[in-house]
Amino acid sequence: MWCSRCRTLIVRSTVFAALCIGFLAAVTTVSAQQPGLIANTDGRKTISLDGQWHTIIDPYESGYYDYRYQPSANGYFKDAKPKSKSDLIEYDFDTSDSLKVPGDWNTQTEQLLLYEGTIWYRKSFDYQRKENTRLFVYFGAANYLADVYLNGEKIGRHEGGFTPFNFEVTNLVRDKSNSLIVKVDNQRRRDAVPTLITDWWNYGGLTRQVKLVETPASFVQDYFIQLQKGSRNQIKGWVRLNGQKLNQRVTVRIPEAGINKSFTANATGYAEIGFNADLTLWSPGNPKLYDVLIEAETDRVLDQIGFRSIEAKGTEILLNGRPIFLRGICIHEEAPFRGGRAYSREDAVTLLGWAKELGANFVRLAHYPHNELMLREADRLGIMVWSEIPVYWTILWENPATLENARNQLTEMITRDKNRAAVIVWSMANETPLGDARLSFLRKLVEQARSLDSSRLVSAAMERHYVDEQTQMIDDPLGEYLDVLGCNEYVGWYDGLPEKADRLEWKMKYQKPLIMTEFGGEAPYGHHGDPLTRWTEEYQENVYLHQVNMLKRISFLRGTCPWILMDFRSPRRPLPGIQDFHNRKGLISDRGEKKKAFYVMQKYYRELETTVPK
Ligand code: GCU
Repeated sequence: MWCSRCRTLIVRSTVFAALCIGFLAAVTTVSAQQPGLIANTDGRKTISLDGQWHTIIDPYESGYYDYRYQPSANGYFKDAKPKSKSDLIEYDFDTSDSLKVPGDWNTQTEQLLLYEGTIWYRKSFDYQRKENTRLFVYFGAANYLADVYLNGEKIGRHEGGFTPFNFEVTNLVRDKSNSLIVKVDNQRRRDAVPTLITDWWNYGGLTRQVKLVETPASFVQDYFIQLQKGSRNQIKGWVRLNGQKLNQRVTVRIPEAGINKSFTANATGYAEIGFNADLTLWSPGNPKLYDVLIEAETDRVLDQIGFRSIEAKGTEILLNGRPIFLRGICIHEEAPFRGGRAYSREDAVTLLGWAKELGANFVRLAHYPHNELMLREADRLGIMVWSEIPVYWTILWENPATLENARNQLTEMITRDKNRAAVIVWSMANETPLGDARLSFLRKLVEQARSLDSSRLVSAAMERHYVDEQTQMIDDPLGEYLDVLGCNEYVGWYDGLPEKADRLEWKMKYQKPLIMTEFGGEAPYGHHGDPLTRWTEEYQENVYLHQVNMLKRISFLRGTCPWILMDFRSPRRPLPGIQDFHNRKGLISDRGEKKKAFYVMQKYYRELETTVPK
């Protein structure tokens, strides 16, 4: 019997249920068959799919579910067209509006500023297929849940708004008018990562570049080429091939250093690599990047890689064996001047340029992996990076799917950026509440991070507590498993008045380096008054003056990261005429205006620059 409303065959509910399960199983197996993440797409042959995409706003997910809230086999992903004058098709991408990709949808039209839900994106493209060539569609990121289809076929699903993913389309692509459709859903969920509440705007959409990546039938899919932990001349890593021809000869060349080392990949296409190299080490003072060629018999990829060692010894952080102080600043991935998600090299150059002006040699990219262009710019500018996954505040610690999701985002973050010399710290979380379930959850992430990359420091931004009126204690049990500890404190803003910092002593349970990963206060640029009047630049300046004096007294402090470089949009900040849905803790306004507190930090960092070696 045909259902009159949705024209789907409903004979016996069990048959229908079996159909759905078969359909979902097909989806998962499709994504299961997909190769892992392709590293360094800029070092390969790519075709950009950026630009205007036709879109359909779908708050009720009518393009995905039928009226029985069952996944429909005839959803918008079919990109269907009426075949006759009496055919009933209730959507049409060609005559629908369009949105720019890359870009969040919230700042492209007033109507979508607060929109949380599904928007369908469609891009049509032609592609000349070639012998012995494979094709992948690569997304820099899509916030939050993306279902991807090509020519009506589901090719995969990705969860997580800040890490890249790719799907193979070699057997699905055709020469003419391919229809690439992405259902992007940024609805917040309690079991998601991040969960329901964040102090940043839930920008939705295809927020980063989308491209086609062409590879030979057997290609260099991924590689890890860095100095072994604590070594300044021992390169250790691996190369992974993908395809039929796997046990190939793999060669790593660093022409400028006269290095040309060959290894043999095993039957799974994995080649362990290791060799001595006398290289100029990457550092903020000399961010040396080498052209590195990774060659196999059937493929070659060029990358720019810096080599440096980073370790923690006692309360010291050692860069290339020498103690350093991380003069940092926190940054959200928000575009200066235009607002919305940052995604371009220009955005990165502006934001990191301001950090440099502040005197920073370190940035904490909060609270999620930022776009690859930001990391590569930090590599070029010599700015060290703290990179974090959005395990933020109170997620569902006991939910296995939440853990799997966090693990996946961690893997994708490390996979994409493990060859960036700038990245020195992987952060597992921000301001998460003490508890056994939380501790075991985060310990699993720490172990995973170490198994994926043993060459960097592992940390998290934690909280402190008072042991008495004057004494702050950092003794979060998670600290046991970390290399360096991050601590967020808002003495003078959420906790007392600015001068309170003068009376405080800091203690820490662990003989490890501390980075003060957040501190500060809020003031809209140009709002003036006396140093004790909230929301004035003078109050914010006052907070920083007392903070700097307090920070100087902490003997195990090895880094500072004020919250935050630039004012950013937040749904939790409604105060009219002051916040207007922006967090105003920036040292710089979202229009690039420097507040008085900026100069307090700049002065402190200039002092440090002269006293602590680069
Ligand atoms: C928190 C949090 C930030 C937030 C900041 C604030 O510590 O980590 O995401 O924006 O404080 O309250 O301004």
